[in-house]
Amino acid sequence: MFYIPTRVYTGKNALLDNKDQLSKLGTKALIVTGSKSSKINGSFDDVAQVLESAGIPFTVFEGVKENPTVESIMEARTFGLDNKCDFVIGIGGGSALDASKAISLMMYHADENWEYLYDTNKTNDMFPVAAIPTTCGTGSEVTGVSVLTRTDLKTKKSSVHKLYPNVSFVDGKYLKTAPASILRNTAMDALSHMIEGTIHKKATAYTRMCASQGLDIWRSCKDVISGAKEATDEDLQKLMDASTMAGMTIAQTGTSIPHALSYPITIGLNIPHGKSVSYFLAEFVRAMDKEDRDYILTKSGFSDPDELDEFFKKVCAPEEIPYDNRVIAYEELVSNAAKLSAVPFEVNDSILRRIAGI
Ligand SMILES: [Fe+2]
Repeated sequence: MFYIPTRVYTGKNALLDNKDQLSKLGTKALIVTGSKSSKINGSFDDVAQVLESAGIPFTVFEGVKENPTVESIMEARTFGLDNKCDFVIGIGGGSALDASKAISLMMYHADENWEYLYDTNKTNDMFPVAAIPTTCGTGSEVTGVSVLTRTDLKTKKSSVHKLYPNVSFVDGKYLKTAPASILRNTAMDALSHMIEGTIHKKATAYTRMCASQGLDIWRSCKDVISGAKEATDEDLQKLMDASTMAGMTIAQTGTSIPHALSYPITIGLNIPHGKSVSYFLAEFVRAMDKEDRDYILTKSGFSDPDELDEFFKKVCAPEEIPYDNRVIAYEELVSNAAKLSAVPFEVNDSILRRIAGI
């Protein structure tokens, strides 16, 4: 099955040119955004303009931090219900978008506690959600995934529910004011999604279609990602589109080993998601069967895993991950049967240790 129930509008002024797609979602909007960036990059103003012109009132929950906690989801749920909101607009990077979906789910199930997020016996029903990405890595605008921080477990865990936005507006202009570090880290996250998705055991011709086109676009933006070339408006749109296609890929396949290793690194050391994932990417590619490795390297524009790693180090300027944290990441990985069984190559202990760097 290939299933993405999200209406995707891409290109310059995707939202302003399709106002009714936002304003028809409900009668009062809860806007979920993490920081000041949505005010700087113009996305918030576009949303406010569309809602005001349609006479739709809105309220803003700004309390979503990076790597949103389950507790913050419940706080936002209360805020949204107190304000009588009946749809949610997520603006920002993966944290804001993932949070907006979980908040919508919990608002819809107003009498349930947080454990609903992880209860496979319950329904996915939620209020309508619009997603407006302002970074180029998450893909959350087209996935059913909502990755949240579980402070009780000291890691991140996705809600078990498939929480797809009803509509997404993918506009490269919102990247224009993004700090270089965010653009680069999130672009590496998108690359990871396409690499993990391409060789995933759940990959099909249809998911590879998304990843293949996304990788072609990503490869054409390498000089922008590395900082060797100044980004044009067209480049920024390309980075956004590659990220969304990467999202379409993992919406079907899921991710695998690099993502599993990244979660305790991000939470334990406060290292951004894209950077945490990419630490493990080169060794992950090296561990693949030759045919897969050659394909991935060609599509992403690298001659070998070392060149991929050099690119990562250049663009993400990673700090050293202490050995103990790599061990914790490894231990979490080996306890995650789903991620281990997601790859087509043999995963014995020495291979896993090499990918984890221990
Ligand atoms: Fe990711």
